[in-house]
Amino acid sequence: MSAGSADLFLRACRCEAVERPPVWIMRQAGRYLPEYRKVRSEVDFVTLCKTPELAAKVTLQPIDRFGFDAAILFSDILVLAEPLGFEIAFDPGPQLGEPARDAARIERIPDADPREALGYVYETIEILRRELEGRAPLIGFAAAPFTLCAYLVEGSGSKNFEHVKGLFYSDPRAAHRLLGKIGRATETHLAAQVAAGAQAIQLFDTWAGLLGPDLYREFALRYVQPIIAAIRALGVPVIYFALNAAHLTDEVAQSGADVIGIDWRTPLDRAAERLAGRFCLQGNLDPCVLLGPAAEVKRQTEAVLAAGQGLPGHVFNLGHGILPRTPIASVETVVETVRTHRRT
Ligand code: CP3
Repeated sequence: MSAGSADLFLRACRCEAVERPPVWIMRQAGRYLPEYRKVRSEVDFVTLCKTPELAAKVTLQPIDRFGFDAAILFSDILVLAEPLGFEIAFDPGPQLGEPARDAARIERIPDADPREALGYVYETIEILRRELEGRAPLIGFAAAPFTLCAYLVEGSGSKNFEHVKGLFYSDPRAAHRLLGKIGRATETHLAAQVAAGAQAIQLFDTWAGLLGPDLYREFALRYVQPIIAAIRALGVPVIYFALNAAHLTDEVAQSGADVIGIDWRTPLDRAAERLAGRFCLQGNLDPCVLLGPAAEVKRQTEAVLAAGQGLPGHVFNLGHGILPRTPIASVETVVETVRTHRRT
């Protein structure tokens, strides 16, 4: 890995001058890596998340192989469901036990301090900071409250998430009670990640795109803003990634995040225009590009770099998580193309 890139990512997040954009990939530790599949053939996913030595080991796999400019903690957005009283299982989609669909069930959710139950996350971070020292900064993460709320109300993944939107219309008070509990637990969990050594935080709002602007403002943005403010006050940059949310650009711009993640649907320069050029943007190569031939991977990577050229800051990433069947060689092409690029 090239020397001197250890703080490239953090500088880009703060819109400081950088010689090239830093690069990391959402789900960079995952099933496309043979060394990850080997670990997973011996332990199930939840055990992997809960065993600090193993979670740290798989976090480092893509750093060792590709020399990414940032590491992301290996964990899951759903681990926070457990201290809120939900069982977590994957088969392979998430299964969360009894869903929170009415006021009575929501009242039974504890206003939990997740720090005891999630000690394994902070322990993983401590191991990683020792192992990563001087190589790459470490990103911690959680779901944005609406996205975790969507899973807790549905009880699993879902196509239209009709129960959670139904709850917003049928019992908004109960929905706000639930989001309040999730929001407080999320802030505590993220602050504990920073205390353990996380150097940046990404909030994943995977299901934000299901909401129109009114519902988004009332049930999503309102809970994201105080969390971002609290984490930024700890001195670490925050990345906010709302998937499928081009119709929410004006609202997302009010999140308070240092970095806005843009999904693969919206060209970066177009997103920047709508955001009035005020933010560092992260993204946004379509993960499916990596299923094509090397020349096309290089061409499309260069197109994203060109679109990012005029921004105050650009963190190169895919426009959503890497697909399990992605060839290793495609990732090598992306990393090499970004690494040899020069910002002018
Ligand atoms: O990015 C990384 O490398 C860090 C680890 C990470 C995972 N999940 C590991 C994981 C991160 C940041 C997440 C976030 C996450 N988890 C999100 C938000 C990101 C996004 O994709 O929009 C969501 C929605 C989840 C919930 C989740 N976890 C689902 C729906 C699934 C099952 C579907 C699937 O992809 O298989 C998971 C499981 C999961 N989380 C895997 C990994 C590597 C696959 C588990 C396995 O090894 O079988």
